[in-house]
Amino acid sequence: MILLTGATGFIGGHVLKVLSEKNLQIRCLSRKSINSGNSNISYVTGDVLDYESLVKATEGVDTVYYFLHMMGKQKEQEKFEVLDRIAITNMVRVCKANSVKRIIHLTGMSNPREKLSHHLASRKEVEEIIKNSDINYTIFRASVIMGRGGAAFEILDAAVRKFPIIPVFNWEKTKVQPIYIGDVIRYLVECLDKSETINRSFDIGCSEILTYRELMQQYAKELGLKRVFIQIPGSWRRVSAFVLGKLAPVNPDVVYWLIESLQNTMVCEPNDLREIFGFEPVSFRESIRKIVESEASK
Ligand SMILES: NC(=O)c1ccc[n+]([C@@H]2O[C@H](COP(=O)([O-])OP(=O)(O)OC[C@H]3O[C@@H](n4cnc5c(N)ncnc54)[C@H](OP(=O)(O)O)[C@@H]3O)[C@@H](O)[C@H]2O)c1
Repeated sequence: MILLTGATGFIGGHVLKVLSEKNLQIRCLSRKSINSGNSNISYVTGDVLDYESLVKATEGVDTVYYFLHMMGKQKEQEKFEVLDRIAITNMVRVCKANSVKRIIHLTGMSNPREKLSHHLASRKEVEEIIKNSDINYTIFRASVIMGRGGAAFEILDAAVRKFPIIPVFNWEKTKVQPIYIGDVIRYLVECLDKSETINRSFDIGCSEILTYRELMQQYAKELGLKRVFIQIPGSWRRVSAFVLGKLAPVNPDVVYWLIESLQNTMVCEPNDLREIFGFEPVSFRESIRKIVESEASK
């Protein structure tokens, strides 16, 4: 039995779709009550901030997919890192109590040599709690995930589509290695059967390293949009977050914290993923084409 957390979210939703095509028993943890139309999929109501609600959810479970973050907590803006710590501590404790064998997690990529933003420092802390739990784990770390519904992608999309003149701030030269959602989901699902991935963490990204300015330029080019970029000194974080929080279909608190993370390099450390999984993620341009094609076919 697999317990999928975050099943109503971007990553969990995609993983659920692929898992549901396999003959696996999947239990989804959700804060809302949801009925499943598939005999292999069930829903259990629970909240990772409430330990007791996790006890039943993890009974008989071998593997937990942990796809959660607390950045969207409006009234507890300053405390999302505290909530993320409570949530993963609850999950690890209950997994031990119910003898769960493995936790599979997706988190944000970060460079250990840099001072991390609030969001990335919190992601790192969650990762370390999982690693130190004595439960087997597989952890993937991604930067911008290219796919409709992903917070970072939606912010990029809104910035490029809505503004003919795009201001770029002191993060314009920060390097990033994006990845297509389809490739992320392949890693997350296929690792289930790959024992070589147990107790390992992997950075995942396409083969190109881009600056944030190049990311926007290439995205505009692929969409056939002529855009002018103007460099403005400083970070203008609050103003950018306010404007993009209104334009992108993303919780404004999440926009705020992700914009802070634009200062942090997100480039993959070398690894043996190609040998283990036998595929390379698609290029950045190809990921844009796939998104555009999938939208055109709807
Ligand atoms: N999106 C990206 O570009 C990206 C990039 C790198 C890494 N990641 C990582 O991927 C993971 C998943 O992110 P995402 O983009 O899929 O997030 P998301 O779309 O915002 O989904 C978050 C999920 O968490 C659930 N949730 C929130 N609070 C909860 C609680 N207290 N108890 C139970 N469930 C709760 C939400 O369920 P409700 O329906 O109940 O709200 C939702 O299903 C995170 O670890 C993130 O760091 C994402």
